[in-house]
Amino acid sequence: MVAPVQLLGDRLLGALKTVLSLETYPQPLLLPASQAKFGDYQSNVCLSLAKQVGKAPRQLAQEVVAHLNVDDICQPVEIAGPGFLNFRLKPEFLARSLQAAIGSDRLGIPPAPEPRRVVVDFSSPNIAKEMHVGHLRSTIIGDCIARILEFQGHDVLRLNHVGDWGTQFGMLIAYLDEVYPDALTTANALDLGDLVTFYKKAKQRFDSDPDFQQKARQQVVALQQGEEHSRRAWQLLCEQSRREFQKIYDLLDIQLTERGESFYNPFLPAVIEDLAALGLLVEDQGAKVVFLEGFTNKEGQPQPLIIQKSDGGYNYATTDLAALRYRIEKDQADWIIYVTDVGQSTHFAQVFQVAQRAGWVPPHVTLTHVPFGLVLGEDGKRLKTRSGETIRLMDLLTEAIARSRADLEQRLATEGRSESPEFIDTVARAIGIGAVKYADLSQNRNSNYVFSYDKMLSLQGNTAPYLLYAYVRVQGLTRRGDIDWRTLSPDTPLFLEDETEQNLAKHLVQLAETLDFVSAELLPNRLCQYLFELSQLFNQFYDRCPILSAPEPTKQSRLTLAYLTAQTLKLGLSLLGIRVLDRI
Ligand code: ARG
Repeated sequence: MVAPVQLLGDRLLGALKTVLSLETYPQPLLLPASQAKFGDYQSNVCLSLAKQVGKAPRQLAQEVVAHLNVDDICQPVEIAGPGFLNFRLKPEFLARSLQAAIGSDRLGIPPAPEPRRVVVDFSSPNIAKEMHVGHLRSTIIGDCIARILEFQGHDVLRLNHVGDWGTQFGMLIAYLDEVYPDALTTANALDLGDLVTFYKKAKQRFDSDPDFQQKARQQVVALQQGEEHSRRAWQLLCEQSRREFQKIYDLLDIQLTERGESFYNPFLPAVIEDLAALGLLVEDQGAKVVFLEGFTNKEGQPQPLIIQKSDGGYNYATTDLAALRYRIEKDQADWIIYVTDVGQSTHFAQVFQVAQRAGWVPPHVTLTHVPFGLVLGEDGKRLKTRSGETIRLMDLLTEAIARSRADLEQRLATEGRSESPEFIDTVARAIGIGAVKYADLSQNRNSNYVFSYDKMLSLQGNTAPYLLYAYVRVQGLTRRGDIDWRTLSPDTPLFLEDETEQNLAKHLVQLAETLDFVSAELLPNRLCQYLFELSQLFNQFYDRCPILSAPEPTKQSRLTLAYLTAQTLKLGLSLLGIRVLDRI
């Protein structure tokens, strides 16, 4: 099932090439129509090219249409207004496209013709600091982007750029030595409890005792020099954090390869040397910096990006430069995607600029920062606990599951159903976690969003529970339809007579182009919108067209539409990282 927008685009390009010979043609040539009265797709290419080729737009449109053969896909192409082309898909084309999806896990969607090697850098929390809601957004959005690119056949490397290096470790190791002097010699794995609290206590010691500060600084040097004791203490702290992070990833069903900042330590000196050799590195008040183009400070002076501090230490940006080179040279990435909060936009713009100017980014490589907004509480302020503390992610997820369980138990009681504890656990967890993910993904990531358990768990509206129930209903219907899916073949006849059948079919064939849009713009909310509209179109169809009581062969055709709707919901939700349930 190739996206109609692509099929039509190819044909239109062919016609344009016959009529005009230009070096380049505008892209995209056509778009989904803004209103139903303009058909399904619309092109303004004749208007945009008319001036350049010295023809009246309508005349150009007539010539193009005369060479455009799309009879197998749409009704005769209409020339509207000053020279728009309107395309309306034919029911026969819709039926054929849907038949091609039957029996295919991918719903007949072909993989990308030119697969890319993509690094998606996401989640990336910091060791011993809390993994906060910002990291949750990065984790959910990054995973969804990775899933969609993987589905499209790209070769994706999911990297967790954990903050596992930096001067804070001096303080943590010094504090560990003080409170658990035997930490490294005890046979049993040490349980430091909550590392965030541990961090806070270490910080208090650091701020109040100059002797302790001295010890902490010595530990920084020892760690950098690879001294055995410091190294092992550092590893122990990382291990502790890693275990906590993993619990969250398991609960969220997230796969990630950890490659923290420390991994790039051996490559930092080369960043300095190479930037110096290129003449980009400048000494500024004892630090080594690159002066940025287009970034100025308050006084209007060019702003420096510090690559090496005056004490010889390296920065967050230095590590990102080393990581970027490694990913291009060693990982052979041709697209690197970084998913972080919008607050880091400047950081990435600066790192990208320095890498570009240093010639480290070959022309075939794309660098993309995918920013996202804040998570707000229902009071419209940054999400916090009642006492003003940062919310622990584990608490937030557990709460979502607990509330979803309460809703479920109440519903079971009303329906007089009794279910096993395993069933209740599975459903509560799937809905609770699905709701948190969907609430995040369904918002345009560029805006802030309000975190509300009530809204995300609601059965009404654009929510995960709504879609999960929709799937169960459609799927249940097909099960009752006494139809053996294994016997369904691409020859199963499909009759798209009613308008609601046609609208549903049209939407179903638009999955491929929706995914293309989502991966080009990296906007998962468009996939959520697509799935929500799909379930609404299905409801309209179901209200108007009897399925199980319809005579054959209509019954079979309608059941097939229902089946394809269920499969599309299942696939779409799985690309959002949400697993469907067969029964709720
Ligand atoms: N650890 C950083 C933070 O918590 C995010 C890292 C993002 N990735 C990167 N390559 N800089 O803010």
